[in-house]
Amino acid sequence: MGGGMRFMEVTSPEQVLGRRLDAAPLSGEWDHGDRPEPRLHRIHSYPAKFPAFLTERALAYGLAEGLHIKRVADVFCGCGTVAFESRRAGLAFWGCDINPVATMIARTKSTSCSGKAVRTRGSVIAEALPRMSRRHGLSATAVARLRRWFTDKAFADLARLRNAIEDNVPPRSKYRPVFDCAFSAILKGCSRWQQRSIKPALDPDKVPQDVRTAFLTQVEAMAQAFDEAGMAVGPAPEIEHANVLTVTAPTTPVDLIVTSPPYVTSYEYADLHQLSSLWLGYADDHRQLRAGCIGSSQHALNFRQAHTALNDTGRQVVFTLYAEDPTAAEAVASYFLDMQRVAARCHEFLSAAGAAVFVIGNTRYRDVEIDNAAHLAEALLQAGFGRVRAARRRISNKCATPFRDGDGRYTRIRTARPIYAEEFVLIAHP
Ligand SMILES: C[S@@+](CC[C@H](N)C(=O)[O-])C[C@H]1O[C@@H](n2cnc3c(N)ncnc32)[C@H](O)[C@@H]1O
Repeated sequence: MGGGMRFMEVTSPEQVLGRRLDAAPLSGEWDHGDRPEPRLHRIHSYPAKFPAFLTERALAYGLAEGLHIKRVADVFCGCGTVAFESRRAGLAFWGCDINPVATMIARTKSTSCSGKAVRTRGSVIAEALPRMSRRHGLSATAVARLRRWFTDKAFADLARLRNAIEDNVPPRSKYRPVFDCAFSAILKGCSRWQQRSIKPALDPDKVPQDVRTAFLTQVEAMAQAFDEAGMAVGPAPEIEHANVLTVTAPTTPVDLIVTSPPYVTSYEYADLHQLSSLWLGYADDHRQLRAGCIGSSQHALNFRQAHTALNDTGRQVVFTLYAEDPTAAEAVASYFLDMQRVAARCHEFLSAAGAAVFVIGNTRYRDVEIDNAAHLAEALLQAGFGRVRAARRRISNKCATPFRDGDGRYTRIRTARPIYAEEFVLIAHP
């Protein structure tokens, strides 16, 4: 089964309810990769980035199962990990993400270009800096939000850098996402954003990096990453900035979905990327970008109507949590309902002989286990998938944020509540 990989298999929603997924084998095949990740995966930080080797494992699984894989998709494509790995394997890719910063990074990583071309353009931009105006086209609202994070000098230098990029790299050039990405990647270092913080926090003692130096260092790192990647082999990935719940389905069904869904109330992606979203003009107020984000705690819900649409696992979790914290229960209910619709969309996008691989962990909120994996397995079976296989994997990449605070959010501050050291790999077959 699956090239020697071990799984627990469920074929009906009742089986999920009866057995949960606790009996899924802890299968070392999904634990870690055999070699370091390509540098392109590290050109811009992205919370909850997916380990790149999981794409390779999913492709190996597909091959062992005799699937004919030509097109891969990631419905939560984030910073384009699966997009890049699919192209590296010579496969077509379709992906979407609701976060414009994510799709900008994903498009950059999907660009085929030489390090030399990136260096040359980077030097032209850096040389133009002293001549550039410090005027910016940002709205008053965006400026009001941004100013607290930057010294006057850093703000003026960033405005010059923005103007230099706009003057030297046309909006339709394939290099535009590359330089938007370079600009975005240096923003936190050039600001008073608390370094390595997973929540927006100001560090008044921080000495921000110099904008020109940071930009040139970033350009060099990206040039080296592009050289290491070499010219791309597969077709150019299609990356949509869109909500998976409403996006137009890929024109040709895909053969393999590889994805990791957001978790409820863990990261507010829109808040974490606010410096980039505001500077790059994706929003005047980054809070607008929370709309449609699955797992955001900001969604209002008509609970009385909604709970009837929850599947059985979802209803059990939500009712248990409701007794502890009704607001949290509503957020979890909203998340579960969205994930039920995601399961249906994945079924719609997939070819009849395809498979969908989800990497998903359970969480805990106010001492109630939020069984995301069992909920998704049940949702997949209800959406029309015939069988779901489950394995557990050990998480090795969450050492930067190993704890959860009292509200269940990730934190680096030592608490009594370590985050789960395991997560599930669910593979759904139509
Ligand atoms: C766990 S992350 C995926 C990370 C990705 N695998 C990577 O390597 O970067 C989940 C992603 O779901 C996205 N997301 C949340 N709600 C969404 C929605 N309604 N439609 C599409 N993407 C959404 C978030 O912006 C985030 O990038």
